[in-house]
This record gives sequence, C-alpha cells and structure tokens, in this order.
Amino acid sequence: AEIDAQKCFDVALDLVKQAGKVVREAIKKKKNIETKSSAVDLVTESDKAVEKMLISGLSEAFPDHKFIGEESVSAGEKCILTDEPTWIIDPIDGTMNFVHSFPYTCISVGLWVKKEALVGVVYNPVLEQMFTAIKGQGSFLNGEKLSVSGEKELGQALVFSEIGTSLDPEKVNTVLTNITNLMPKVHGLRGVGSAALGISSVAAGWGDVFYHFGLCAWDMAAGTLILTEAGGYVCDTEGWCPDERPMGWG
Ligand code: IPD
Repeated sequence: AEIDAQKCFDVALDLVKQAGKVVREAIKKKKNIETKSSAVDLVTESDKAVEKMLISGLSEAFPDHKFIGEESVSAGEKCILTDEPTWIIDPIDGTMNFVHSFPYTCISVGLWVKKEALVGVVYNPVLEQMFTAIKGQGSFLNGEKLSVSGEKELGQALVFSEIGTSLDPEKVNTVLTNITNLMPKVHGLRGVGSAALGISSVAAGWGDVFYHFGLCAWDMAAGTLILTEAGGYVCDTEGWCPDERPMGWG
C-alpha cells in the first residue's frame, strides 16, 4: 500500500509529545539504572517505558509496520532493516545526560521505507525543542524552517562529536587521537551527549559538522533526515551517502 507520510508524521508527533511528558517528569526524579554494553552504557526504566509506549501506539496505527528499537534490540530482538516501512526508535537518546538531569536528552523516531528516511522526529522535551522532517518538505524546529550554516572552512567550523560508550582502551584511544588531531584544525569542538541532538544542531546551523564512530541506527535514523532536509550532507567514513552505498545500509 502507498505510504501516507503526513499521516505517519502526525501519529508519530502525537505519540512523541505524549512520551515527552514522561521524560520531562522522570528527569526530575531518582532514576532506576541498569548497564548494557559497558559500565557507562545505561538504560533506565524510562527508556523502556517510552519505547513500549511508542511501539504500542505506532503498531496500533500501522499494524503491518516493522520496528527497530534500541531497548528491544538490547533485550535480544534482531536489528534488521528491510524495504518494509520500519520505525527506528531511540526512546531516550542521551541516557547518561538524562540520568544526571542534564537537559540535553531527546526522543528520536525515524520512519524508513525502502531503506530511505521518510519521517524524522527528534524531541527534547526538557528544553521544548521539537525537530521534525518529512522527506522533500524541509525540516523544522518548533515549526520554524531550518537550514544548515553553509560553512565550508574547517577552520571556521564548530564540530560536534561524541565520546561514545565504549571503554575498550583501543577505542578510547582512537576517540582521543581524533580529538587531538582535529583540535588545531577546527574553530571549536563540542559534544552534547546525544547524537540525535548533535546532528539536529548541525541542521539548525548551531554548528557545522557532526561526526561519530560507532553510531547506532536509532541514534541517526531521524536526525539524518532532519539534517539532509535542512540542506546538510550525510555520509559514512568512506564517503558514501546512505542511498548511494553499493551494499546499502541494511
Ligand atoms: C548514546 C548517545 C551518545 C552516543 C552513544 C549513544 P543512548 O545513545 O547518542 O551521544 O555517543 O554512542 O549510544 O544510549 O543514550 O540512547
């Protein structure tokens, strides 16, 4: 069946706003924390509750759509992207920030169809920043149209990155070496602690570049559409764009 992007967007937006209320309340309270791949890769009961809420609402509206959710995958579900409409969900991106009540945390929901992003919503409910995009219709922050900075000089660029959650010494060393090498070449380096918000920040023109090694599908499924719809460019470390890569991203 033909996908109604607007309907998908409307349903997702409504659910994300409801989920935002949960996050906004929970961030003020004591969190119930568990660890995942490392001692700094965290999940809270709010991550799980929000993911459940989003998946149950979306599957009620779109019974034949598929899902990739960060916490469902952590709990053992397969992470497979097919051509079928697939909602890719990070219930709380920036869980470490959320745990510390640092208000740079968001809900990220992307709908991909035929391995292309169709709808993207990234919502920071604490700071009330709603980033949205539908393919071909531009991207918006609280309804205001976004466009990237257009900066072309690395030396003038504010670059966002993330430290990541691996404590493997070799990976930590790579992250720190990249920072050491980049520092003298850029105008400034920042990490906000949420990949989705880092990418959305570039879409908003609040900085110029975002890079991250080891990003997961749910960290970028919505953000990349928000960024490309704002005139930005997304590629992997070999320079391939998602829809041009010979092997695809599936
Ligand atoms: C994490 C954040 C962080 C990034 C990690 C992600 P989570 O997502 O996006 O910025 O560096 O790689 O895992 O676990 O808070 O949803």
